[in-house]
Amino acid sequence: MVPGMLLSNVPGYFKSRRDSLMKAQPGAAFIFAASPEYLRNPDVHFPFRQESNFYYLTGFEEPEAFVVMVPTGSQGRGSYKTVMFVRKRDPEKEMWEGERYGTEGAMKIFGADEAYLHEEFDRKLPELIRASEKIYYRVGMDESTDRRVLAALETHRRSMGRSGKALSPILDPNEVIGEMRLFKSPEEAETLRKACQITARAHTIAMKEVRPGMNESEIEALIDYELRRGGCQRVGYGSIVAGGKNAACLHYRHNNEVLRDGDLLLVDAGGEHNYYTSDITRTFPVGRKFTAGQAKAYDLVLKSQLEAIALAKPGATMPAIHQKATEVLIDGMLSLGLLKGKASAVFKTLEYKRFYPHGTGHWLGMDVHDVGLYMKNGEPRTLEAGMCFTIEPGFYVQPGDREVAAEFRNIGIRIEDDILITANGHDILTRDVVKTRDDIENLRAH
Ligand code: GLY
Ligand code: MN
Ligand code: MN
Repeated sequence: MVPGMLLSNVPGYFKSRRDSLMKAQPGAAFIFAASPEYLRNPDVHFPFRQESNFYYLTGFEEPEAFVVMVPTGSQGRGSYKTVMFVRKRDPEKEMWEGERYGTEGAMKIFGADEAYLHEEFDRKLPELIRASEKIYYRVGMDESTDRRVLAALETHRRSMGRSGKALSPILDPNEVIGEMRLFKSPEEAETLRKACQITARAHTIAMKEVRPGMNESEIEALIDYELRRGGCQRVGYGSIVAGGKNAACLHYRHNNEVLRDGDLLLVDAGGEHNYYTSDITRTFPVGRKFTAGQAKAYDLVLKSQLEAIALAKPGATMPAIHQKATEVLIDGMLSLGLLKGKASAVFKTLEYKRFYPHGTGHWLGMDVHDVGLYMKNGEPRTLEAGMCFTIEPGFYVQPGDREVAAEFRNIGIRIEDDILITANGHDILTRDVVKTRDDIENLRAH
């Protein structure tokens, strides 16, 4: 959905999602605010991206908006209405910034039952929530929005006079909506697949084009270009383009050093296509071939990743996948002489964290670290069809670590793919970008 080009309708699934949410929580009111606009410097804002839950429930991409869903007892339990608060149409502003939908568009195109101007939110909210048994609103995202919602709640409280009644409880919607977003519908899975295909292609091009002497920033720019060209609107998170020792910095964001022959390059980048993001990491030589030490470490990470991926199917758990990836890495660390002792002791004492300090994966969707509970009733939840997550083991030697053999220094390796659980197993959405050493060296030979 491209801002600047008004839509004449939105797919029916936005309303279906509101229906499901309200059906699951009869009697509850939900209040979601659009992302705030942040000033970068006078007259210039940071690029706007709609808040994920807001988009998930409406498809509406303007700032200065609220969507409120409230029960309407009159049509039976579970019936509700959608009320949107949006910016005013304004020919002068629209000349500068592009067209707006206004209240009419909110109803006609986005299916709101009622729509008002954003400024009317404070006055309208108290009466809208009057009949709600509980109110879902996420506090703490933006102070000025919190103030407006809390003031409206206070007005509502006063309207109850001396009835002795308390305000309805205010709850964080994160879990109820997280539970919905965790399971990708066929349309969502297709959008994710597309984000992954575009991203895989961008990684493949970066893997082909890198040359010693280039700057990390050139590779970041190349990936940005290929993502946008392929149909992504933006990246889902800041790309990590880290040569040599920089790859040992897990969230390296400077991306501004010259790439040297003999080093590896770690690229962790994911394009966001229609609000769903991919998250791919590949690690490959800046020159043509892996050195002997790099090859040993790379093959170990790949083995760990492949064995972990093999477990991904309904009934498995994320901790079991992490454990498998970690066990393979520990065996390798021991056989390469990087650690000493028994594998079980290394696992227990967490000694392996010296080379593998992070987890093996996370839910993936509209947010790179997507919503959804990892535990249920105190147990790791089992994987089910429609869940999507990453598998991303790694191996990193910190620049200050002088105890490892010279052949393993300056190394940071991660291999990350995006996995969709299917009825019988899994689908690797990012399969289009190669990862065996042979395939990578073949690509680098051109
Ligand atoms: N790119 C962030 C992550 O891999 O979790
Ligand atoms: Mn990731
Ligand atoms: Mn990543």
